[in-house]
Amino acid sequence: MSKERGQFSSRFGFITAATGSAVGLGNIWGFPTQTASHGGGAFVVAYLILAFLLAYPALMAELIIGRHTRHNMVAALPQLSSQPLPRLLGKVTGLYGVLTASLILSFYAIVAGWLMAQVPAAVADISGQSPAKNWFAQSSLARDGLFCALFSALTAAIVARGVKDGIERWSTRLMPALILLMLGLVATVLTLPGALEGLRLYLIPDFSLITDPALLTSAMGQAFFSLSLGVGTMLIYGSYVSKSDNLPLTGAYVALIDTGIAFLAGLLIIPAMFVAQHRGISIYNTDNTLIAGPDLILQTLPELFNSLGVAGGIIGLVFFLLLSIAALTSSISMLEVPVTFTLEQFKLSRRRATYWIATTIFILSLLILFNFDALFTTVVSVSTQYSQPLLGVLLCLFAGWALHRDKLLREISAGFPAAEQSFFWKIWPGYIRFICPLLIITMFVQNISS
Ligand code: PFF
Repeated sequence: MSKERGQFSSRFGFITAATGSAVGLGNIWGFPTQTASHGGGAFVVAYLILAFLLAYPALMAELIIGRHTRHNMVAALPQLSSQPLPRLLGKVTGLYGVLTASLILSFYAIVAGWLMAQVPAAVADISGQSPAKNWFAQSSLARDGLFCALFSALTAAIVARGVKDGIERWSTRLMPALILLMLGLVATVLTLPGALEGLRLYLIPDFSLITDPALLTSAMGQAFFSLSLGVGTMLIYGSYVSKSDNLPLTGAYVALIDTGIAFLAGLLIIPAMFVAQHRGISIYNTDNTLIAGPDLILQTLPELFNSLGVAGGIIGLVFFLLLSIAALTSSISMLEVPVTFTLEQFKLSRRRATYWIATTIFILSLLILFNFDALFTTVVSVSTQYSQPLLGVLLCLFAGWALHRDKLLREISAGFPAAEQSFFWKIWPGYIRFICPLLIITMFVQNISS
Protein backbone atom coordinates (compact mmCIF):
# COMPACT_ATOMS: atom_id res chain seq x y z
CA MET A 1 0.00 0.00 0.00
CA SER A 2 1.45 3.43 -0.89
CA LYS A 3 2.47 5.50 2.10
CA GLU A 4 0.48 8.41 0.62
CA ARG A 5 -2.71 6.39 1.13
CA GLY A 6 -4.86 7.52 4.01
CA GLN A 7 -7.71 6.29 6.13
CA PHE A 8 -10.74 8.06 7.54
CA SER A 9 -10.31 8.63 11.27
CA SER A 10 -13.82 7.47 12.16
CA ARG A 11 -17.10 6.23 10.74
CA PHE A 12 -18.46 9.76 11.12
CA GLY A 13 -15.51 11.03 9.05
CA PHE A 14 -16.32 8.56 6.28
CA ILE A 15 -20.03 9.35 6.33
CA THR A 16 -19.47 13.11 6.06
CA ALA A 17 -16.91 12.69 3.28
CA ALA A 18 -19.06 10.23 1.31
CA THR A 19 -22.23 12.29 1.76
CA GLY A 20 -20.13 15.35 0.93
CA SER A 21 -19.31 13.65 -2.37
CA ALA A 22 -22.88 12.57 -2.97
CA VAL A 23 -24.58 15.82 -1.99
CA GLY A 24 -23.77 18.35 -4.65
CA LEU A 25 -25.19 20.22 -7.61
CA GLY A 26 -26.98 16.97 -8.49
CA ASN A 27 -29.12 17.32 -5.37
CA ILE A 28 -29.66 21.05 -5.13
CA TRP A 29 -29.77 21.88 -8.84
CA GLY A 30 -30.32 18.60 -10.73
CA PHE A 31 -33.01 16.94 -8.65
CA PRO A 32 -35.37 19.94 -8.31
CA THR A 33 -34.98 21.00 -11.93
CA GLN A 34 -35.57 17.44 -13.19
CA THR A 35 -38.61 17.25 -10.92
CA ALA A 36 -39.87 20.49 -12.45
CA SER A 37 -39.46 19.21 -16.00
CA HIS A 38 -40.98 15.77 -15.30
CA GLY A 39 -44.29 16.72 -13.77
CA GLY A 40 -43.44 17.08 -10.06
CA GLY A 41 -44.39 14.36 -7.54
CA ALA A 42 -44.30 11.46 -10.04
CA PHE A 43 -40.59 12.06 -10.59
CA VAL A 44 -40.01 12.21 -6.82
CA VAL A 45 -41.68 8.80 -6.31
CA ALA A 46 -39.78 7.18 -9.23
CA TYR A 47 -36.53 8.63 -7.94
CA LEU A 48 -37.03 7.31 -4.41
CA ILE A 49 -37.81 3.81 -5.70
CA LEU A 50 -34.86 3.69 -8.12
CA ALA A 51 -32.40 5.15 -5.62
CA PHE A 52 -33.01 2.21 -3.29
CA LEU A 53 -33.64 -0.46 -5.91
CA LEU A 54 -30.64 0.25 -8.16
CA ALA A 55 -28.35 2.94 -6.82
CA TYR A 56 -27.92 1.68 -3.24
CA PRO A 57 -26.95 -1.90 -4.32
CA ALA A 58 -24.48 -0.43 -6.85
CA LEU A 59 -23.07 1.84 -4.13
CA MET A 60 -22.49 -1.23 -1.97
CA ALA A 61 -20.68 -2.98 -4.83
CA GLU A 62 -18.25 -0.06 -5.07
CA LEU A 63 -17.69 0.27 -1.34
CA ILE A 64 -17.08 -3.45 -0.93
CA ILE A 65 -14.61 -3.70 -3.83
CA GLY A 66 -12.81 -0.62 -2.44
CA ARG A 67 -12.48 -1.89 1.10
CA HIS A 68 -11.55 -5.37 -0.04
CA THR A 69 -8.75 -4.34 -2.40
CA ARG A 70 -7.61 -1.06 -0.78
CA HIS A 71 -6.73 0.34 -4.19
CA ASN A 72 -7.92 2.79 -6.82
CA MET A 73 -10.34 1.41 -9.43
CA VAL A 74 -7.67 0.69 -12.10
CA ALA A 75 -5.61 -1.44 -9.72
CA ALA A 76 -8.60 -2.83 -7.79
CA LEU A 77 -10.67 -4.47 -10.55
CA PRO A 78 -7.90 -6.66 -12.06
CA GLN A 79 -7.11 -7.89 -8.54
CA LEU A 80 -10.52 -9.52 -8.26
CA SER A 81 -9.68 -12.34 -10.67
CA SER A 82 -6.74 -14.51 -11.63
CA GLN A 83 -7.91 -15.02 -15.26
CA PRO A 84 -6.25 -12.84 -17.94
CA LEU A 85 -9.46 -11.69 -19.66
CA PRO A 86 -11.31 -10.39 -16.59
CA ARG A 87 -8.07 -8.79 -15.42
CA LEU A 88 -7.72 -6.91 -18.71
CA LEU A 89 -11.40 -5.96 -18.64
CA GLY A 90 -10.91 -4.72 -15.08
CA LYS A 91 -8.07 -2.47 -16.11
CA VAL A 92 -9.99 -1.03 -19.06
CA THR A 93 -13.09 -0.44 -16.89
CA GLY A 94 -10.92 1.26 -14.25
CA LEU A 95 -9.37 3.58 -16.83
CA TYR A 96 -12.82 4.35 -18.25
CA GLY A 97 -13.90 5.30 -14.69
CA VAL A 98 -10.88 7.61 -14.19
CA LEU A 99 -11.54 9.29 -17.53
CA THR A 100 -15.25 9.72 -16.73
CA ALA A 101 -14.53 11.23 -13.29
CA SER A 102 -12.14 13.71 -14.94
CA LEU A 103 -14.68 14.62 -17.62
CA ILE A 104 -17.38 15.17 -14.99
CA LEU A 105 -15.06 17.45 -13.04
CA SER A 106 -14.24 19.44 -16.20
CA PHE A 107 -17.87 20.55 -16.67
CA TYR A 108 -18.75 20.56 -12.97
CA ALA A 109 -16.04 23.18 -12.29
CA ILE A 110 -17.58 25.44 -14.95
CA VAL A 111 -21.06 25.21 -13.44
CA ALA A 112 -19.68 25.63 -9.91
CA GLY A 113 -17.84 28.74 -11.15
CA TRP A 114 -21.13 30.27 -12.39
CA LEU A 115 -22.64 29.68 -8.96
CA MET A 116 -19.64 30.91 -7.00
CA ALA A 117 -19.70 34.16 -9.00
CA GLN A 118 -23.23 34.80 -7.70
CA VAL A 119 -21.85 35.11 -4.13
CA PRO A 120 -19.85 38.33 -4.79
CA ALA A 121 -22.73 39.44 -7.06
CA ALA A 122 -25.10 39.24 -4.07
CA VAL A 123 -22.60 41.07 -1.81
CA ALA A 124 -22.17 43.83 -4.43
CA ASP A 125 -25.94 44.07 -4.77
CA ILE A 126 -26.53 44.39 -1.01
CA SER A 127 -23.87 47.12 -0.79
CA GLY A 128 -25.33 49.00 -3.80
CA GLN A 129 -22.40 48.44 -6.21
CA SER A 130 -24.40 48.06 -9.39
CA PRO A 131 -21.64 47.79 -12.05
CA ALA A 132 -19.75 45.20 -9.98
CA LYS A 133 -22.96 43.27 -9.40
CA ASN A 134 -23.63 43.15 -13.14
CA TRP A 135 -20.14 41.92 -13.91
CA PHE A 136 -20.35 39.08 -11.38
CA ALA A 137 -23.94 38.16 -12.17
CA GLN A 138 -23.68 37.99 -15.96
CA SER A 139 -21.85 35.33 -17.88
CA SER A 140 -18.73 36.35 -19.82
CA LEU A 141 -15.64 34.40 -20.84
CA ALA A 142 -13.52 36.39 -18.38
CA ARG A 143 -15.86 35.83 -15.43
CA ASP A 144 -16.51 32.16 -16.21
CA GLY A 145 -12.79 31.41 -16.73
CA LEU A 146 -11.79 33.25 -13.56
CA PHE A 147 -14.33 31.53 -11.30
CA CYS A 148 -13.71 28.13 -12.85
CA ALA A 149 -9.99 28.65 -12.06
CA LEU A 150 -10.80 29.72 -8.50
CA PHE A 151 -13.04 26.74 -7.91
CA SER A 152 -10.49 24.31 -9.41
CA ALA A 153 -7.72 25.80 -7.24
CA LEU A 154 -9.83 25.41 -4.07
CA THR A 155 -10.59 21.80 -4.98
CA ALA A 156 -6.91 21.05 -5.61
CA ALA A 157 -5.80 22.75 -2.37
CA ILE A 158 -8.06 20.45 -0.31
CA VAL A 159 -7.18 17.24 -2.18
CA ALA A 160 -3.45 18.00 -1.91
CA ARG A 161 -3.76 17.90 1.89
CA GLY A 162 -4.80 14.24 1.80
CA VAL A 163 -7.63 12.14 3.17
CA LYS A 164 -7.75 13.07 6.85
CA ASP A 165 -6.44 16.65 6.84
CA GLY A 166 -8.03 17.67 3.55
CA ILE A 167 -11.08 15.70 2.49
CA GLU A 168 -12.35 14.56 5.89
CA ARG A 169 -11.64 17.80 7.74
CA TRP A 170 -13.28 20.01 5.13
CA SER A 171 -16.26 17.73 4.61
CA THR A 172 -16.95 17.66 8.37
CA ARG A 173 -16.83 21.45 8.46
CA LEU A 174 -18.83 22.13 5.33
CA MET A 175 -21.58 19.48 5.46
CA PRO A 176 -23.23 20.60 8.74
CA ALA A 177 -23.07 24.21 7.49
CA LEU A 178 -24.80 23.13 4.31
CA ILE A 179 -27.63 21.34 6.12
CA LEU A 180 -28.24 24.29 8.47
CA LEU A 181 -28.28 26.83 5.62
CA MET A 182 -30.68 24.64 3.68
CA LEU A 183 -33.10 24.19 6.59
CA GLY A 184 -33.08 27.95 7.18
CA LEU A 185 -33.87 28.65 3.51
CA VAL A 186 -36.68 26.06 3.31
CA ALA A 187 -38.31 27.52 6.45
CA THR A 188 -38.10 31.05 4.99
CA VAL A 189 -39.44 30.19 1.52
CA LEU A 190 -42.35 28.12 2.83
CA THR A 191 -43.73 31.16 4.69
CA LEU A 192 -43.99 33.24 1.48
CA PRO A 193 -47.25 33.60 -0.50
CA GLY A 194 -47.55 31.15 -3.41
CA ALA A 195 -45.35 28.48 -1.78
CA LEU A 196 -48.28 26.16 -1.08
CA GLU A 197 -49.09 25.73 -4.77
CA GLY A 198 -45.51 24.58 -5.39
CA LEU A 199 -45.70 22.25 -2.42
CA ARG A 200 -48.80 20.63 -3.89
CA LEU A 201 -47.12 20.03 -7.27
CA TYR A 202 -44.10 18.59 -5.48
CA LEU A 203 -45.83 16.32 -3.02
CA ILE A 204 -48.94 15.08 -4.82
CA PRO A 205 -47.82 12.71 -7.59
CA ASP A 206 -49.72 12.23 -10.84
CA PHE A 207 -49.28 8.43 -11.03
CA SER A 208 -50.20 8.32 -14.73
CA LEU A 209 -46.77 9.84 -15.52
CA ILE A 210 -44.74 7.33 -13.56
CA THR A 211 -44.37 4.73 -16.34
CA ASP A 212 -43.04 7.26 -18.84
CA PRO A 213 -39.67 5.78 -20.02
CA ALA A 214 -38.09 9.24 -20.27
CA LEU A 215 -39.05 9.98 -16.66
CA LEU A 216 -37.70 6.62 -15.49
CA THR A 217 -34.34 6.91 -17.25
CA SER A 218 -33.90 10.49 -16.06
CA ALA A 219 -34.64 9.35 -12.50
CA MET A 220 -32.14 6.50 -12.80
CA GLY A 221 -29.42 8.75 -14.27
CA GLN A 222 -30.11 11.31 -11.57
CA ALA A 223 -29.80 8.66 -8.82
CA PHE A 224 -26.45 7.41 -10.22
CA PHE A 225 -25.09 10.93 -10.58
CA SER A 226 -26.33 11.91 -7.16
CA LEU A 227 -24.67 8.97 -5.40
CA SER A 228 -21.42 9.61 -7.36
CA LEU A 229 -21.55 6.07 -8.78
CA GLY A 230 -19.59 4.20 -11.41
CA VAL A 231 -16.48 6.34 -11.66
CA GLY A 232 -14.56 4.94 -8.69
CA THR A 233 -15.19 7.77 -6.21
CA MET A 234 -17.08 5.57 -3.77
CA LEU A 235 -14.67 2.72 -4.47
CA ILE A 236 -11.77 4.90 -3.32
CA TYR A 237 -13.67 6.21 -0.30
CA GLY A 238 -14.49 2.57 0.51
CA SER A 239 -10.77 1.79 0.34
CA TYR A 240 -10.18 4.24 3.19
CA VAL A 241 -12.82 2.64 5.48
CA SER A 242 -11.69 0.55 8.42
CA LYS A 243 -12.49 -3.19 8.54
CA SER A 244 -14.37 -2.66 11.79
CA ASP A 245 -17.11 -0.58 10.11
CA ASN A 246 -20.46 -2.06 9.22
CA LEU A 247 -20.47 -1.27 5.49
CA PRO A 248 -24.12 -2.02 4.56
CA LEU A 249 -25.30 0.25 7.38
CA THR A 250 -22.79 3.00 6.64
CA GLY A 251 -23.71 2.85 2.93
CA ALA A 252 -27.39 3.05 3.84
CA TYR A 253 -26.74 6.22 5.87
CA VAL A 254 -25.00 7.78 2.88
CA ALA A 255 -27.87 6.89 0.52
CA LEU A 256 -30.48 8.12 3.01
CA ILE A 257 -28.76 11.44 3.71
CA ASP A 258 -28.18 12.04 0.00
CA THR A 259 -31.81 11.33 -0.86
CA GLY A 260 -33.03 13.36 2.12
CA ILE A 261 -31.06 16.41 1.01
CA ALA A 262 -32.29 16.11 -2.59
CA PHE A 263 -35.83 15.96 -1.21
CA LEU A 264 -35.18 19.02 0.97
CA ALA A 265 -33.77 20.93 -2.02
CA GLY A 266 -36.99 20.20 -3.92
CA LEU A 267 -38.92 21.49 -0.93
CA LEU A 268 -36.98 24.73 -1.35
CA ILE A 269 -36.88 25.24 -5.11
CA ILE A 270 -40.30 24.11 -6.38
CA PRO A 271 -42.21 26.26 -3.83
CA ALA A 272 -39.76 29.14 -4.55
CA MET A 273 -40.77 28.96 -8.25
CA PHE A 274 -44.41 29.44 -7.33
CA VAL A 275 -43.55 32.29 -4.96
CA ALA A 276 -41.85 33.86 -7.98
CA GLN A 277 -44.98 33.33 -10.08
CA HIS A 278 -47.07 34.92 -7.34
CA ARG A 279 -44.83 37.99 -7.66
CA GLY A 280 -45.39 38.22 -11.42
CA ILE A 281 -42.26 36.39 -12.59
CA SER A 282 -42.83 33.92 -15.44
CA ILE A 283 -42.00 30.32 -14.53
CA TYR A 284 -43.21 28.61 -17.71
CA ASN A 285 -41.50 28.17 -21.10
CA THR A 286 -43.39 29.01 -24.27
CA ASP A 287 -44.44 25.33 -24.61
CA ASN A 288 -46.09 25.49 -21.17
CA THR A 289 -43.48 23.36 -19.40
CA LEU A 290 -41.89 24.64 -16.19
CA ILE A 291 -38.59 26.48 -16.61
CA ALA A 292 -35.69 24.22 -15.60
CA GLY A 293 -31.88 24.01 -15.84
CA PRO A 294 -29.62 27.08 -15.81
CA ASP A 295 -32.51 29.45 -16.62
CA LEU A 296 -34.26 28.44 -13.41
CA ILE A 297 -31.21 28.70 -11.14
CA LEU A 298 -29.46 31.68 -12.73
CA GLN A 299 -32.42 33.79 -13.90
CA THR A 300 -35.77 32.93 -12.34
CA LEU A 301 -34.53 32.48 -8.77
CA PRO A 302 -32.30 35.61 -8.81
CA GLU A 303 -35.31 37.56 -10.15
CA LEU A 304 -37.28 36.26 -7.18
CA PHE A 305 -34.52 37.26 -4.74
CA ASN A 306 -34.37 40.75 -6.33
CA SER A 307 -38.10 41.20 -5.93
CA LEU A 308 -37.80 40.56 -2.17
CA GLY A 309 -35.59 43.62 -1.46
CA VAL A 310 -32.74 43.45 1.07
CA ALA A 311 -34.04 40.23 2.65
CA GLY A 312 -34.03 38.69 -0.86
CA GLY A 313 -30.40 39.80 -1.30
CA ILE A 314 -29.44 37.92 1.85
CA ILE A 315 -31.47 34.84 0.86
CA GLY A 316 -29.72 34.88 -2.55
CA LEU A 317 -26.32 35.16 -0.90
CA VAL A 318 -27.03 32.18 1.39
CA PHE A 319 -28.47 30.15 -1.49
CA PHE A 320 -25.44 30.53 -3.74
CA LEU A 321 -23.06 29.98 -0.84
CA LEU A 322 -24.91 26.75 -0.18
CA LEU A 323 -24.55 25.62 -3.79
CA SER A 324 -20.84 26.49 -3.83
CA ILE A 325 -20.17 24.49 -0.65
CA ALA A 326 -22.11 21.50 -1.98
CA ALA A 327 -20.18 21.65 -5.26
CA LEU A 328 -16.83 21.78 -3.46
CA THR A 329 -17.36 18.71 -1.27
CA SER A 330 -18.31 16.81 -4.46
CA SER A 331 -15.51 18.10 -6.67
CA ILE A 332 -12.85 17.02 -4.15
CA SER A 333 -14.14 13.47 -4.42
CA MET A 334 -13.99 13.62 -8.24
CA LEU A 335 -10.42 14.90 -8.26
CA GLU A 336 -9.43 12.21 -5.75
CA VAL A 337 -10.11 9.55 -8.45
CA PRO A 338 -7.40 10.51 -11.00
CA VAL A 339 -5.10 11.71 -8.20
CA THR A 340 -5.10 8.38 -6.33
CA PHE A 341 -4.67 6.55 -9.63
CA THR A 342 -1.64 8.67 -10.55
CA LEU A 343 0.01 8.55 -7.14
CA GLU A 344 -0.43 4.80 -6.81
CA GLN A 345 0.49 3.98 -10.40
CA PHE A 346 3.40 6.34 -10.94
CA LYS A 347 4.56 6.70 -7.32
CA LEU A 348 4.31 10.51 -7.45
CA SER A 349 3.80 12.51 -4.26
CA ARG A 350 0.18 13.47 -3.51
CA ARG A 351 0.96 17.17 -3.89
CA ARG A 352 2.58 16.77 -7.30
CA ALA A 353 -0.07 14.39 -8.58
CA THR A 354 -2.83 16.79 -7.45
CA TYR A 355 -1.39 19.86 -9.14
CA TRP A 356 -0.64 18.08 -12.41
CA ILE A 357 -4.06 16.51 -12.67
CA ALA A 358 -5.94 19.62 -11.51
CA THR A 359 -4.13 21.72 -14.12
CA THR A 360 -4.88 19.22 -16.90
CA ILE A 361 -8.57 19.11 -15.98
CA PHE A 362 -8.68 22.90 -15.78
CA ILE A 363 -7.30 23.09 -19.33
CA LEU A 364 -10.09 20.73 -20.37
CA SER A 365 -12.62 23.06 -18.69
CA LEU A 366 -11.17 26.01 -20.63
CA LEU A 367 -11.48 24.03 -23.85
CA ILE A 368 -15.16 23.45 -23.09
CA LEU A 369 -15.67 27.12 -22.17
CA PHE A 370 -14.14 28.31 -25.44
CA ASN A 371 -16.22 25.83 -27.49
CA PHE A 372 -19.25 25.91 -25.24
CA ASP A 373 -22.04 25.20 -27.75
CA ALA A 374 -20.20 22.35 -29.37
CA LEU A 375 -18.87 20.65 -26.25
CA PHE A 376 -20.76 21.37 -23.03
CA THR A 377 -23.94 19.30 -23.49
CA THR A 378 -22.03 16.50 -25.20
CA VAL A 379 -19.55 16.16 -22.32
CA VAL A 380 -22.40 16.24 -19.76
CA SER A 381 -24.46 13.57 -21.49
CA VAL A 382 -21.55 11.28 -22.46
CA SER A 383 -20.16 11.28 -18.93
CA THR A 384 -23.31 11.24 -16.81
CA GLN A 385 -26.20 9.88 -18.86
CA TYR A 386 -24.28 7.11 -20.63
CA SER A 387 -21.00 6.37 -18.89
CA GLN A 388 -22.12 6.41 -15.26
CA PRO A 389 -24.93 3.82 -15.53
CA LEU A 390 -22.79 1.67 -17.86
CA LEU A 391 -19.90 1.72 -15.40
CA GLY A 392 -22.40 1.00 -12.62
CA VAL A 393 -23.41 -2.22 -14.44
CA LEU A 394 -19.77 -3.21 -14.89
CA LEU A 395 -19.00 -2.65 -11.20
CA CYS A 396 -22.00 -4.76 -10.14
CA LEU A 397 -20.79 -7.53 -12.46
CA PHE A 398 -17.26 -7.35 -11.07
CA ALA A 399 -18.51 -7.50 -7.47
CA GLY A 400 -20.99 -10.26 -8.28
CA TRP A 401 -18.96 -12.47 -10.62
CA ALA A 402 -15.25 -11.71 -10.24
CA LEU A 403 -15.06 -11.32 -6.47
CA HIS A 404 -15.27 -14.83 -5.10
CA ARG A 405 -18.50 -15.40 -3.14
CA ASP A 406 -16.60 -16.37 0.03
CA LYS A 407 -14.53 -13.22 -0.10
CA LEU A 408 -17.60 -11.12 -0.82
CA LEU A 409 -19.43 -12.52 2.19
CA ARG A 410 -16.34 -12.20 4.40
CA GLU A 411 -16.08 -8.55 3.40
CA ILE A 412 -19.74 -7.94 4.27
CA SER A 413 -19.40 -9.59 7.66
CA ALA A 414 -16.26 -7.59 8.63
CA GLY A 415 -17.65 -5.04 11.10
CA PHE A 416 -21.11 -6.64 10.84
CA PRO A 417 -21.03 -9.81 13.00
CA ALA A 418 -24.74 -10.53 12.58
CA ALA A 419 -24.43 -10.37 8.77
CA GLU A 420 -25.33 -14.01 8.17
CA GLN A 421 -28.79 -13.59 9.62
CA SER A 422 -29.45 -10.41 7.67
CA PHE A 423 -31.64 -9.83 4.67
CA PHE A 424 -28.71 -8.11 2.99
CA TRP A 425 -26.56 -11.29 3.10
CA LYS A 426 -29.35 -13.42 1.61
CA ILE A 427 -30.50 -11.12 -1.17
CA TRP A 428 -27.79 -8.72 -2.21
CA PRO A 429 -25.07 -11.03 -3.71
CA GLY A 430 -27.54 -12.62 -6.13
CA TYR A 431 -29.23 -9.31 -6.75
CA ILE A 432 -26.08 -7.60 -8.04
CA ARG A 433 -25.17 -10.63 -10.15
CA PHE A 434 -28.36 -10.68 -12.18
CA ILE A 435 -31.20 -8.36 -11.33
CA CYS A 436 -29.48 -5.03 -10.82
CA PRO A 437 -27.41 -5.15 -14.07
CA LEU A 438 -30.42 -6.40 -16.05
CA LEU A 439 -32.68 -3.63 -14.76
CA ILE A 440 -30.09 -0.94 -15.50
CA ILE A 441 -29.42 -2.30 -19.01
CA THR A 442 -33.16 -2.54 -19.79
CA MET A 443 -33.72 1.07 -18.86
CA PHE A 444 -30.60 2.11 -20.69
CA VAL A 445 -31.62 0.36 -23.94
CA GLN A 446 -35.13 1.76 -23.66
CA ASN A 447 -33.68 5.25 -23.38
CA ILE A 448 -31.41 4.85 -26.41
CA SER A 449 -34.15 3.33 -28.56
CA SER A 450 -36.61 6.11 -27.69
N1 PFF B 1 -22.87 13.37 -6.55
C1 PFF B 1 -22.48 14.65 -7.07
C2 PFF B 1 -23.71 15.55 -7.15
O1 PFF B 1 -24.83 15.09 -6.86
O2 PFF B 1 -23.55 16.70 -7.52
C3 PFF B 1 -21.83 14.56 -8.40
C4 PFF B 1 -20.69 13.59 -8.50
C5 PFF B 1 -19.68 13.58 -7.53
C6 PFF B 1 -20.61 12.72 -9.59
C7 PFF B 1 -18.60 12.70 -7.65
C8 PFF B 1 -19.57 11.84 -9.70
C9 PFF B 1 -18.56 11.85 -8.75
F1 PFF B 1 -17.57 11.02 -8.87
